[in-house]
Amino acid sequence: MVRSGKIAWRSPSNIALVKYWGKKGFQLPLNPSVSMTLTNCYTETTIEFNHKNNLKNPAFSLLFQGKKNVPFESKIRSFIEVVSKEFPALSTLNLDISTHNSFPHSAGIASSASSLSALALCLLSIKNKVLGINMNEEDFLKKASYLARLGSGSASRSVYGGWVLWGETSGIEGSSDDYAIPLSNQVDEKFNSYYDSILIVSSGEKAISSSQGHELMESNPYKESRVNTGRFNAINLIDALKCCNEKVFGEIVEYEAANLHAMFLTSHPSFILIKPETLQIINKLKQFRDETKLEFTFTLDAGPNIHLLYSEDIRDKMLLFINTDLTALCEDGKWIDDKVGMGPILIDSN
Ligand code: PMV
Repeated sequence: MVRSGKIAWRSPSNIALVKYWGKKGFQLPLNPSVSMTLTNCYTETTIEFNHKNNLKNPAFSLLFQGKKNVPFESKIRSFIEVVSKEFPALSTLNLDISTHNSFPHSAGIASSASSLSALALCLLSIKNKVLGINMNEEDFLKKASYLARLGSGSASRSVYGGWVLWGETSGIEGSSDDYAIPLSNQVDEKFNSYYDSILIVSSGEKAISSSQGHELMESNPYKESRVNTGRFNAINLIDALKCCNEKVFGEIVEYEAANLHAMFLTSHPSFILIKPETLQIINKLKQFRDETKLEFTFTLDAGPNIHLLYSEDIRDKMLLFINTDLTALCEDGKWIDDKVGMGPILIDSN
């Protein structure tokens, strides 16, 4: 048995095109979701572990961006407790965790997908090291996705590069509510050069956490219709990715963003996450598309920022439009230049 060592993973964030909103059971989705894994928005997590004879519960220290962070520490504590049910030997380890994001905390970009997937990958690597288990890559990633999902649903999708599906979906073999699966071999090459220009309208804290939001779906009068819409859109979006139908892809993506924010408006209590600039940017984008006929689309996460999605072919035109017309509506002119990514990387294993 290995008694001490060090593991570090870099894991990316992802943007959902078909949204996960609402849970059942323990961290299981009401409907399937489809996402694109990013490149430049990622978390790097390093864990140094040591076996301690007298430990009954896993002990850990946490540095987030080099500093103590109490709210994040309690999220990590609950996650480690859940993972130690799957991996009892974790209870005999002391873990020194250090984690940082490539994007500023105040960028308004959700970090749970990248941070919890990075942590799940580290904990699984430690388990395999300590117990001397050899897993093939496919089994390793499936298990890492399963563990990441126990911490944050969207994190289950960050374990894979490219385009990813989480949730049982009719007609898609291997799809599951328990873990995500990669779609990359089912996606037309054009989508593998997709960009995500993230227009930062506001970097402030969200008025409502995603766990509170998921819970509000329980009493949302449109819950059933949302679940059916999500299921239907997941199947059709995957078809559009396969056949390279950017028009249909864009229609579904924009409908999903609107539908997610409609769920916020129809929750009890209702909440609004978009800002006036979000709507101004959307109107400008629609007008630009009407004038140019360019095939781009956009989505929103649970916040006011806009993810502008487009292929390599129209990159120059989009960059020009962002710089001349859109940055003026962004907070301090900020936007993040990102694109489809390859998935997590193991950066240290000792
Ligand atoms: O993974 P969570 O619990 O933070 O929920 C993510 C919810 C959305 O970001 C709004 C949608 C999604 O599928 O990522």
